Amino acid sequence: MKKLIVPSILSADFARLGDEVRAVKDAGADWIHVDVMDGHFVPNISIGIPVVESLAKSAPPPMDIHLMIDNPDEFVEKFIDAGGDAVRGVTVQIETCKLLYSTISAIKARGVSAGIALNPTTPLSALEEVFEYVDMILIMTVEPGFAGQKFIHSMVPKVRKLRDIIDRSEHKPLIEVDGGIKLDNIHVIAEAGADAIVSGSGIFHTESYAETISLMRKAVSGK
Ligand code: DX5
Ligand code: ZN
Repeated sequence: MKKLIVPSILSADFARLGDEVRAVKDAGADWIHVDVMDGHFVPNISIGIPVVESLAKSAPPPMDIHLMIDNPDEFVEKFIDAGGDAVRGVTVQIETCKLLYSTISAIKARGVSAGIALNPTTPLSALEEVFEYVDMILIMTVEPGFAGQKFIHSMVPKVRKLRDIIDRSEHKPLIEVDGGIKLDNIHVIAEAGADAIVSGSGIFHTESYAETISLMRKAVSGK
């Protein structure tokens, strides 16, 4: 399948967020990745429901919401309602879910894609009992919390192993990868088997979003 390029707005200029999202849309972004942080699960606070609500009104690319918050069960439905038809999916961190099956069911009941994210130190085996219910698995390639961190190379075999598990399974969730991915290493993660590739500073901190996304596409084509 075609690899999806997903800019993370965490690295956008928040004072001009609407323009930034329009710019990456015009530059060919497949989705936009919306990082929600609560200052508890991760040591940073980013954006929340009102921002999702405003962005949804500006015809954004499909919104890929990544919740890095404690007690996501309290919030998944509020985010989906805020984003309406603009939301393509919501991903929760497996480390934050006490009732994971219920969380996944609540997301799917709203008709959007249910994703589960794994921190770098969370093993793939944590997915075992929920694998067949999820629509997307997000492998974190940095510790969640901040943009602009260094890609953790030892996550490449983890992605490869997950690709192999999915290829041998009848159930085919998408693999998303997030953290430290830029033009110079995107081919590595594409070759390992990622379907959707998030990049924050690797896109928003470049001069031309269109040129960067098109070079990224070239780098992943055929991988
Ligand atoms: C990290 C976030 C990422 C981040 C990626 O906690 O989940 O989505 O914005 O930023 P870069 O691509 O700069 O590492
Ligand atoms: Zn993210």
